[in-house]
Amino acid sequence: MSRWNVYVTNEIPKPALDMLEEFCDMEVNRTGKVLEKSVLLEKVKGRDAVLSLLTDPIDAEVMDAAKGAKIFANYAVGFNNIDIPAATERGIMVSNTPGVLTDTTAEMAWALLFSTARRVVESDKYSRMGKYEGWGPMLFLGQQVMNKTVGVIGAGRIGLSFAKRAKAFDMKVLYSDVAANPEFEKETDGQYVSLETLLQESDFVSVHTPLLPETHHLLGEREFKLMKNTAILINTSRGPVVNEAELVKALQTGEIWGAGLDVYEFEPEFAPGLLELDNAIVCPHIASATFETRTKMGIIAVTNILAAMRGELPPTCLNPEVFKNN
Ligand code: DGY
Repeated sequence: MSRWNVYVTNEIPKPALDMLEEFCDMEVNRTGKVLEKSVLLEKVKGRDAVLSLLTDPIDAEVMDAAKGAKIFANYAVGFNNIDIPAATERGIMVSNTPGVLTDTTAEMAWALLFSTARRVVESDKYSRMGKYEGWGPMLFLGQQVMNKTVGVIGAGRIGLSFAKRAKAFDMKVLYSDVAANPEFEKETDGQYVSLETLLQESDFVSVHTPLLPETHHLLGEREFKLMKNTAILINTSRGPVVNEAELVKALQTGEIWGAGLDVYEFEPEFAPGLLELDNAIVCPHIASATFETRTKMGIIAVTNILAAMRGELPPTCLNPEVFKNN
């Protein structure tokens, strides 16, 4: 079996690159920057496989430039950056990295929830600015978390992992999705409700839905109006699920109390006004960023490439029909 020629669009943890290098010839973009489309188009030429990131728009043009490539192994569970139908049409397999970042992302959603509710970032900044002059009865009052109601939008793997933890804080769980999920209810005692009810009754709303045409701008002005004025929105899924400009307005006017965000509508840009808000925490898309998880994501992406090289079905292939048809 001859060694494949693989392009890696950005540096990923070393154990994954070492594993790839053992079996393949590889070139890695080590600039630390997302490649310009024109560079990406050049770099993918003549490759057998491409290990791509969620920041790389893998559309028909890129696939045509990568003529002959058998697989695009995306280093992410989300794959909204890849045109899967276009890949399938061209007989190119696409894979993602499910499972390994489920708990890690859920953990980040809780980190954002607590940090926003208890104003951790804002009060840390205050201390560093030398403003702390002693304990104050009204200093940085926040929202209690325990015994409150948390609304989970999207009852998939990450939503479930997030919701399971609510029990530890004696919280009531509401959830909404396209259909009720008995496993979710069994594990969380969660109650299936409409999105409207969830928004009206929750103290915290955490978004865990993938980005699909149906979930684009799922939350906007109308939905923020339904939420409590004391409510907090957490988003660790995909930015465009929320209308970010309308979120900024809702935070400015006090329509909702706060937001803990890890993802943005036009990453890496922030909606005008967002960064000026004290009641928003803005993390740079780091929900899966632990040493352990990022390494596992890399290993899965490489495992998919190596399976394709051996003529096997990549374990987390998103369009297995391509494999069957070959
Ligand atoms: C994903 O994998 O989709 C996350 O957004 C980044 O790890």
